[in-house]
Amino acid sequence: MINPSSIEQQPLATLGASTPDAIVARFAELRARFDSETAQLAAGDLAAWTALRNAWLGRSSGVITAIGDNWLKPATPEQKRVVGKALNELKAHVERTLEELRARAEAAADAGTAATGGVDLSLPGVHRSLGTRHPIRQTFEELERIFMSIGFSIVEGPEIETPYYNFEALNIPEHHPARDTMDTFYLSLPKGSPELLLRTHTSPMQIHTMERQQPPVRIIVPGRVYRRDNPDSTHSFAFHQIEGLAVDTDITFCEFKGTVEYFVREFLGPKTRTRLRPSYFPFTEPSAEVDASCFACDGKGCRICKHAGWIELFGAGMVDPAVYGFVNYDAKKLSGFAFGIGVERMAMMRYGISDIQLFYQNDVRFLRQFT
Ligand code: FA5
Repeated sequence: MINPSSIEQQPLATLGASTPDAIVARFAELRARFDSETAQLAAGDLAAWTALRNAWLGRSSGVITAIGDNWLKPATPEQKRVVGKALNELKAHVERTLEELRARAEAAADAGTAATGGVDLSLPGVHRSLGTRHPIRQTFEELERIFMSIGFSIVEGPEIETPYYNFEALNIPEHHPARDTMDTFYLSLPKGSPELLLRTHTSPMQIHTMERQQPPVRIIVPGRVYRRDNPDSTHSFAFHQIEGLAVDTDITFCEFKGTVEYFVREFLGPKTRTRLRPSYFPFTEPSAEVDASCFACDGKGCRICKHAGWIELFGAGMVDPAVYGFVNYDAKKLSGFAFGIGVERMAMMRYGISDIQLFYQNDVRFLRQFT
């Protein structure tokens, strides 16, 4: 910014500097001002250096230009020689000093960067957007948290099974009609190899666990399962389940019911009511479908619960004593319960999602809603 009272803005005549000595004295004054301003420059402050250079060497309003306009141009021929020489000297001094200061400022800035490990901390940060956990994963974690809080531990098992573990040991013999609902994917293997299939439910892990450990058993089994179901808004050919199994010497139907009710209230809210509806599974007796009062209408009946007031949640029951026979457990001394929860269906209930296929399409506009 131009300061009109600065000497370079006034003609030499106004300053009373007409003799060579007076002119040289005025130049000395300017040089002292420049030296004092450079002495105040902080090392590494490139912005201050740029401002100083513009103030002295700026083409339109710098001090050097002002001297040319206000002192040199109106000077007499004798004065011009003195002013011209002194001006050249001052300009050379200003340019040389500023060049030295620039090199010093840049070196200091580089040293600062090196001191922070080559990272320039003054630059704006790079924004990396974090992903979120898939709603199915979040649902798994919530289900696992609830069951772990009441003493269940987690076990996992293979997605490829033998028909024995997937069916026979669960009391589903070869020509049992219950197999029709689980018409499944068999692996194509060389002739003579034992048959293998993609498990249709997590229930085979009931058998593996009881083969490996003696009661008491209290486990949940999260995992993926496969069925030859046609995809629609509530069915997928690959989906997820959480199996539960509790076996001990004194487990009654009351404990089964209490556990199920506790779980439903924890997952869907304290006001949710639970209903056990008679059902059939070959590996539980008695068997039940667990229903919850509709979260949308609180049991009054609405479009979501198809005006029933209840929504079906999962299958469960007391372990059929026939199953204990396959794992050498003493059916006379032991009792227990089991359940198999469809994780997608629980997530749909919890988040009010009407189409199961949304979970598999990986559309970020859908997934972003579950942060
Ligand atoms: C079973 O799979 C039993 N193993 C459950 C069980 C375990 C009963 C232990 C008793 C004791 P079901 O076929 O009903 O049962 O499937 C259980 C849950 O999986 C269903 O309630 C539903 O939530 C879910 N489910 C079933 N088929 C599909 C599918 N194609 N797509 C998405 N979810 C499904």
